[in-house]
Amino acid sequence: MTAVRRELRFLVNDEEVALGDAGAGDSLLDFLRLRRGLRGTKEGCAEGDCGACTVLVGRLRDGEVHYEAVNSCIRLLPSVDCCHVVTVEHLSGAEGGLHPVQQAMVDCHGSQCGFCTPGIVMVLVALWLERPRPSEAEVRRALQGNLCRCTGYAPILRAAAAAGDYGLPEDDGLVRNREAVAARLAAMADGNRVELAGGGVVVPADGDDLADALEAQPAATMVAGATDVGVWVNKELRDIAPAVFIGHLDGLGRIAAKGGTIAIGAAVSYSDAEAALTEAVPGLADYWSRIGGWQIRNMGTVGGNIANGSPIADLPPVLIALGAELVLRKGRERRAIPLEAYFLDYGRQDLEPGEFVEAVRVPVPAEDARLGFYKVSKRRDEDISSVCAGFMVRVRDGRMEEARLAFGGMAATPRRAEAAEAALRGREWGEAAIEAAGQALERDFTPISDWRASAEYRALVARNLLKRFYLDRSGTVPP
Ligand SMILES: Cc1cc2nc3c(=O)[nH]c(=O)nc-3n(C[C@H](O)[C@H](O)[C@H](O)COP(=O)(O)OP(=O)(O)OC[C@H]3O[C@@H](n4cnc5c(N)ncnc54)[C@H](O)[C@@H]3O)c2cc1C
Ligand code: FES
Ligand code: FES
Repeated sequence: MTAVRRELRFLVNDEEVALGDAGAGDSLLDFLRLRRGLRGTKEGCAEGDCGACTVLVGRLRDGEVHYEAVNSCIRLLPSVDCCHVVTVEHLSGAEGGLHPVQQAMVDCHGSQCGFCTPGIVMVLVALWLERPRPSEAEVRRALQGNLCRCTGYAPILRAAAAAGDYGLPEDDGLVRNREAVAARLAAMADGNRVELAGGGVVVPADGDDLADALEAQPAATMVAGATDVGVWVNKELRDIAPAVFIGHLDGLGRIAAKGGTIAIGAAVSYSDAEAALTEAVPGLADYWSRIGGWQIRNMGTVGGNIANGSPIADLPPVLIALGAELVLRKGRERRAIPLEAYFLDYGRQDLEPGEFVEAVRVPVPAEDARLGFYKVSKRRDEDISSVCAGFMVRVRDGRMEEARLAFGGMAATPRRAEAAEAALRGREWGEAAIEAAGQALERDFTPISDWRASAEYRALVARNLLKRFYLDRSGTVPP
């Protein structure tokens, strides 16, 4: 029987917090602003889109504290157990005064009304800690999830580029105190399950404990990165209790490459999965940076993106095209199914009560595989797909012997285009086959119109993406 702790423990800036009365849906932002009076962190959209609420969350990994920028508005409080939460109030320069990023923002006129500024500063500090002299592309990528309505981004980009001239991470308080903070977090991490509020919050001790918790409470809401669940709480006022939190679990947070397969634990974030997958899968890096913004990629998990069953989630089409397999666990039993078999119908997945997604196994594509990954959305950054697609075709002796074409946004679930695949198989890699496959898409899908895109638009985009794939992989369009 796993020992139980009745309080969350974490660090906010320099102070240790022990909290026995957190609810499942309590946000980190409300806690900081309303209970700790740390009002430097702002609330803008309350749904992860604007970045005004950005803080750093440091977690122990292999004995070291690793800091990430996250959206505190949708980060739920129980998920920061044994973490170090850093708010804008904690920043300072090496000799007191403004932090190098803050001073650069002042000198480059990076702030007007100032509402977005603490969030922008926190993201730029996270970037500066990793790369004090970032490229413009790195700065733009880091800022994808931060909205500024009045200054304009040019001065902010200049400030980010200049921050390294004002000071370097080795002189920063967070870096200098890393070991001391690691020791404090290690002392909090007693390996116990946390249970709060009469069972409304469970933070399991490990994977086995999670399996037990879900068998005991099969109707509980699983919370991984909370980038969906946090929005349900804030925007739909859903009561998610009882909730079981899994984002911290080492067992679900691992990435292992073995025998031509990359196994990704369900709680691995987009950011952590990125290096392993984009190295193994050519052409995936650009697609990956179209998912959410940096904070969302630091929080949202591969498992959550699959488990939620959304027809417009970005990972399922990619992973289906690559031939991924899902590992599901219930109690001590595990089963593996092809990823596409998981999606039964809109809102209905092949998941039994008490069962959970444990991992996804992704075969490394063959060297001769022709791959294409595409996302079409209204905005380039931080937007949900109207249509997304993953394509994998293998050609032998000039003919396509294998074709896996998967789409999101075209049906009630992410799905393979079987008629289009059949139109390619056995035919020569050429325009005629791609045209035939494009026509066959009409038999595969009857897309719907919604406020994101009309049915006609989706059908046309899907067809054009196939053509684009052909041109990209035939070397006629620059990458
Ligand atoms: C601002 C913003 C931008 C976004 N941009 C994108 C985008 O560009 N592309 C995209 O695809 N999505 C996007 N999303 C949606 C979201 O990031 C993803 O769906 C994300 O992957 C969900 O993962 P999570 O860990 O946050 O899941 P959670 O919110 O924690 O959970 C989502 C659902 O999955 C269930 N669940 C989680 N883990 C498991 C598990 N291991 N087993 C069984 N059930 C589980 C939960 O119970 C819940 O029902 C965005 C969201 C926001 C707020
Ligand atoms: S308040 Fe907008 S992202 Fe959190
Ligand atoms: S300074 Fe006003 S929103 Fe950015």
